[in-house]
Amino acid sequence: MTETVSPTASGAGNASATALRDLRCGDLAASWTDRPVRVAGWVHRRRDLGGLFFIDLRDRAGLVQLSFRPDWTKEDSLALAGQLGPEDVVAASGTVRARPPEMVNADMRTGEVEIQVETLELLSRAAPLPILVAVPPEEALPAEELRLRHRVLDLRRPHMLHNFEIRHRAVTAARAALNEEGFLEVETPFLTRRTPEGARDYLVPSRVHPGEFYALPQSPQIYKQLLMAAGFDRYYQLARCMRDEDLRADRQPEFTQVDVEMSFVEEPDVFGVCERMLVRMFQETLQVDLDVPFQRLTYAEAMEYYGSDKPDLRISWRIQDLTASLTGIGFGIFDSASEAGGRIRGLRVPGGAVLSRRQLDEADDMAQTAGAKGAMWLKRTAEAWSGAPARFVDDAVAQKLRTEHGVEEGDLLFLVAGPDAETGPALDALRRYAARQLGAVADGFACSWITRFPLFDPDPETGLPTYGHNPFAMPLDPDPDTLSQRPYEQLSRAYDLVLNGVELASGSIRCHDAELQRTIFRTLGMSDEEIQARFGFMLDSFQHGVPPHGGFALGLDRLVATLVGADSIREVIAFPKTSAARGLMEGAPSAIDEAGLAELGLSLRQAE
Ligand code: AMO
Repeated sequence: MTETVSPTASGAGNASATALRDLRCGDLAASWTDRPVRVAGWVHRRRDLGGLFFIDLRDRAGLVQLSFRPDWTKEDSLALAGQLGPEDVVAASGTVRARPPEMVNADMRTGEVEIQVETLELLSRAAPLPILVAVPPEEALPAEELRLRHRVLDLRRPHMLHNFEIRHRAVTAARAALNEEGFLEVETPFLTRRTPEGARDYLVPSRVHPGEFYALPQSPQIYKQLLMAAGFDRYYQLARCMRDEDLRADRQPEFTQVDVEMSFVEEPDVFGVCERMLVRMFQETLQVDLDVPFQRLTYAEAMEYYGSDKPDLRISWRIQDLTASLTGIGFGIFDSASEAGGRIRGLRVPGGAVLSRRQLDEADDMAQTAGAKGAMWLKRTAEAWSGAPARFVDDAVAQKLRTEHGVEEGDLLFLVAGPDAETGPALDALRRYAARQLGAVADGFACSWITRFPLFDPDPETGLPTYGHNPFAMPLDPDPDTLSQRPYEQLSRAYDLVLNGVELASGSIRCHDAELQRTIFRTLGMSDEEIQARFGFMLDSFQHGVPPHGGFALGLDRLVATLVGADSIREVIAFPKTSAARGLMEGAPSAIDEAGLAELGLSLRQAE
């Protein structure tokens, strides 16, 4: 067992003394030497040296070595030690002894001592294990499906425990930071009506009102705004959110937000609260000092320079516009893209000439997967230029590439031509790929605010306006006429917080004007009746005096996954769902019998 757990597990000290133990196994320090002690825990590993036994006993704080010999162990306890298997739960009493110098285990926090056990008591026997808890460091973990099915055993692994210690610290720090700034923690309902956050709702049938359904909240969005109307001034909640959407490594059907809302604010007020909270969360989990204030980019700048609204700013390279430099040099692909109203955009990869043919082919595939027709490249070596457009690079073009676009000897220039909607995502993928290949992703944490998102985006299928972020953001220009007449030109006061290329939080300064909010809903294609039915309760309360307000919600699972370096948020959620939205351990969802359905006034249709 690695001792990754120890630094975060030590807090309880002797407060962990109970009727069954004097302290936790992993807390046994050398100061206990020659004193009697009683510990309890799980058998992590047992070594049998011909009638003598060593057991590593494990609990939340770590491991301690128990030693059994006829010299100091009672006969029946020695016999029991010989029969123990992995994960049996025992209590052991004995005397703490210093280990001889050659037996000290420097990798173990309790490695200077051992307990010479006098009596051993079996508290609970473990049946044969479906997955190993004590996975040797060189062995791969069991498949994720097995881990999730036998989650209780999986969570016993010190690495998992560590993730939850970090999660606990992060939550404690967030609460402390917000409490100090005068925020009030308030709970909002689980059984509610729909809030539009862009996913499907989970519905709960009402027994007392057959045919009617509650929706589980996708977020507490409307409630937190109503708390501002109620004069609560500053609200937060560790809010569980439920969304029926396609799952990925960073998405679960239920997840947790640190949800915040504040009155009488503008963007800098909200950003300041969020930054101070994150500084404290990083400090109290990783002892890392985040640089504040975070960099700020408008959505338009992010798309221009990084081709993404989630730029990974650990990579310093920026996308450039080479349309003026490369149109008309005689390369047909460039000319036709410019003539069609597109641009030639490129990414200078410093030192990228070392990328191999295979890597460049892989990059081309990525650009295509991202929606572009492909990626071209130009390499500049001491001798010459190479790549498909190389023969069009005469001295004048070479001069421009050098002086205006900074291309030096040893560099590579990726080039993608076409509409921005194709070139941006392709160059974003190339930027991240090449940086990984060349080790150009800086260590540490790069946070940025992305602001001024489009208020509306066209629906890819219908072409009609849908909301860019959520429909409650204040338009940058709050004139209702421009809003409804030229919806796609409107920007909103919505923002995202991006950490290392991951969207960590989002929020906005809200629309607190009921009439303007109705205009936004109408522009989204809702009838006045629909607006009244779905949002009347909100808009009506806005008519009784509502402060300007704004806030954000931070994805706690994503943040903790970043803090512990996990690939998936499933590693930081105790009982997560699979990507098919199943709880494998408890078997959820499950069928309901006829009587159960009838009680809810429901009947099932035959699957087609
Ligand atoms: P949004 O929908 O952007 O905003 O969610 C805020 C943050 O929550 C996290 N997140 C998720 N994490 C895990 N699994 C999911 N399925 C999932 N969906 C979202 C992300 C995201 O940035 N009410 C607004 C916030 C506001 O305007 O105040 C909202 O919910 O980290």
